[in-house]
Order: sequence, then C-alpha cells, then structure tokens
Amino acid sequence: GLKKKEVNVLCLGLDNSGKTTIINQLKPSNAQAQDIVPTIGFSIEKFKTSSLSFTVFDMSGQGRYRNLWEHYYKEGQAIIFVIDSGDKLRMVVAKEELDTLLNHPDIKHRRIPILFFANKMDLRDALSSVKVSQLLCLENIKDKPWHICASDAVKGEGLQEGVDWLQEQIA
Ligand code: GTP
Ligand code: MG
Repeated sequence: GLKKKEVNVLCLGLDNSGKTTIINQLKPSNAQAQDIVPTIGFSIEKFKTSSLSFTVFDMSGQGRYRNLWEHYYKEGQAIIFVIDSGDKLRMVVAKEELDTLLNHPDIKHRRIPILFFANKMDLRDALSSVKVSQLLCLENIKDKPWHICASDAVKGEGLQEGVDWLQEQIA
C-alpha cells in the first residue's frame, strides 16, 4: 500500500494529566497496555491515522524529568499538551511549563501545531475546555496553529476529534 507520512509528536504536560492513557487509547487495541504506570523518563510509542504514521515521545511529566523535554523539541513536528482539568491547584504550574515550552529557542519561531487535551472531563469538578484555555492564556498563541479538546482518556472520548485536527494540520 501507500506509505504513510511519518510524523514525530511530543506528548507533554504535568505528571498524572493522562498523557500515557491518551496515547495508549490511540494505539490499535492489540498493542494497548492493560495497566498504565507513571512514565519514567520517556517512552516511544507509535500509532497510525488514515494518512499519517505517528511516532510519539511520551514524556514523563514528573518534575525531576521535565528537563528531558527540551532535548526532543528539535525533532518534534507536532505537540500534544495534556492538562488535568480537575487539577485546579496545579493549573498555574501547567501554564508555567507551557510558557517555558513556547519560549524555548527550538520551538519559539516554528509554526508547529499544538493540540491541547483538557483531559479528565469526567471528573465532577473538572474545568471546561474554555476555562482551561482562559487560564492557560491560549489566545496569546498567535504564531502557531492550536486547538483544545475536552477529553476523557479512560473512556476514549474526545480523542478522535483532536487527532483529526492534528492530521489536518500536517497532511
Ligand atoms: P506521567 O507519566 O507521570 O507524566 O503521567 P501521565 O500524564 O502519563 O498520566 P497517566 O496516563 O499515567 O494517567 C494518570 C492517572 O490518571 C491514571 O490513573 C489514569 O487512569 C488517570 N486518567 C487518565 N485520563 C483520565 C481521564 O480522562 N479521566 C479520569 N477520571 N482519569 C484519567
Ligand atoms: Mg505517562
């Protein structure tokens, strides 16, 4: 068949936001892990859409590993940034990490698409994607295409919409 275009994606966001759970849901069912554990360092994962073959750098969000992220920025052609919509206390930390990312020399001047997942929308006190977008000041991102989706990674809800958007940006 036709060879799919290969795309490197960086999956970033704080620990416990649901990055690995999201990526796991995007993999074919026979390749999905049954138990998700906190990522140590990072993990390289693959999934395909109709036209693209994604290689994902699923980074650990733990504080002690966040300094690893920047070593992969050059290789990334798209970013998935995951936020725990129920973690109001750490929304400011998520914003700090996002701002650091956006100001990094390997990211700053590139028109790299960023897909945000306002994840854990199933939690009773979850913030809406609009509220998350306001708290992270996403409207200030003017030089990169971005999109935010509410998601429930455990049930797999909201993920396809996001991936469809990402595919449109790259294809
Ligand atoms: P690190 O690897 O430590 O950076 O964390 P991570 O962002 O990869 O988070 P992970 O996917 O390991 O998920 C952390 C916890 O959140 C797990 O217990 C998941 O089951 C849970 N979780 C992930 N997504 C959702 C969601 O949409 N809703 C709910 N309720 N729980 C979720
Ligand atoms: Mg993880």
